[in-house]
Amino acid sequence: MAQFNHIKLAHHYWKTHLKPGDIAIDATCGNGQDSLYIAKHVLTENSGALYLFDIQQIALDQTRLRLSSELNAMQISRVHFCHLNHSEFCQTIKPETVSLIAYNLGYLPGGEKSITTLTETTLMSLNNALSLIKPGGLISVTCYPGHAEGLKEEEAILNWSSQCNPSLWSCCLHKWINKPKSPSLLIIQKNSI
Ligand SMILES: C[S@@+](CC[C@H](N)C(=O)[O-])C[C@H]1O[C@@H](n2cnc3c(N)ncnc32)[C@H](O)[C@@H]1O
Repeated sequence: MAQFNHIKLAHHYWKTHLKPGDIAIDATCGNGQDSLYIAKHVLTENSGALYLFDIQQIALDQTRLRLSSELNAMQISRVHFCHLNHSEFCQTIKPETVSLIAYNLGYLPGGEKSITTLTETTLMSLNNALSLIKPGGLISVTCYPGHAEGLKEEEAILNWSSQCNPSLWSCCLHKWINKPKSPSLLIIQKNSI
């Protein structure tokens, strides 16, 4: 029987939720595994859009390589590669249009561990994400409390999300309660009107 982990759990949510033609954001594209998963669910030859963010050019390059090996040129043309801090999403993304914003926090697997997401900019990004999500849309945040900045980040995000207005947002935390240092998954859904 398949063993559940934080990545499979997140992907399960995304798969249930996304449909072809949707707009999605991967706020931390890294090696592009999540980006590819999202791309396959939203991009067709003539609809859908995927915005990818990372502060490291090498991450964007690896993601482009991965996507190019599995998607056709028309689908790739619908991917926006943004070498930017996710604390500021690009102006071209209109408010209340995005179905999923995915954060897989921490550092690039196999990369420089000192280049990691930071509590302050992650909170700025999450605040900006709220205005982009459409009714029914999801923000998915995978936290890594196994390292010092990750633990601080998880605590701050849980504190922030527990204060989101419950008439507008529903926030659900998945945590392996017998493994406190394991990654956790927070799902924030904008309530449908
Ligand atoms: C755990 S990795 C992401 C894994 C990726 N989703 C995948 O499927 O391979 C985290 C990524 O976040 C990036 N990152 C760190 N701080 C960032 C920021 N402020 N804005 C955008 N990306 C950031 C890192 O460069 C790293 O590539």
